[in-house]
Amino acid sequence: MTNHSSYGEVHTKPIGEITRRGFMRRMLGIGVGLLSLEFLGGTIAFLWPNLKGGLGGIVDLGTAADIAQQQPAWPKGEPYIYNKARLFFVNVPAGEGLVDGSGKTVADPKGAVLALYRKCPHLGCQIPQLCDKSKWFECLCHGSKYTILGEKRAGPAPRGMDRFPVTISNGVYQVNTGEKITGPPVGTVTFDPRDSASIPHCTG
Ligand code: FES
Repeated sequence: MTNHSSYGEVHTKPIGEITRRGFMRRMLGIGVGLLSLEFLGGTIAFLWPNLKGGLGGIVDLGTAADIAQQQPAWPKGEPYIYNKARLFFVNVPAGEGLVDGSGKTVADPKGAVLALYRKCPHLGCQIPQLCDKSKWFECLCHGSKYTILGEKRAGPAPRGMDRFPVTISNGVYQVNTGEKITGPPVGTVTFDPRDSASIPHCTG
């Protein structure tokens, strides 16, 4: 489009027309903006306290029998994953039996339980279910490793896995996920002193 002025001809773009490069830049900007929004939304959803049976409130997990119904291997020591509150619920005597190979079945540990937070105390990745080979929790992000009791054995994490207090009311296990207890310091060995180098692992 050409405009006339006293200084001669001035070339300008028609109003509302953008160059291809401008268009690409704009689309890229929109794409980045949408991605950032999605990331922000996910982060807020992860951090926001959910008081209805999720992280941040009191969670009723049910009786030992209820839990065994959800996770049939729980009486044999396999941790029960309660995802709404992002925790592992560990049947301690059965879990120790799973690790030392005695394979004992404990239908109701009568309070000998642990509610371990799945958020890795290193940089916050979600810790996967107990590794079948090592019988440790192994974080996939940077290789921190924890025993079935959440005590740190290897990797960059500054401590063991954080946990939540558990109470029993009429046989029902309740976890207070609003009150996080900092994980045990490095070097804590209550159980499972195996050396990381001597056992097979799920991660390197
Ligand atoms: S976040 Fe788990 S080891 Fe880094």
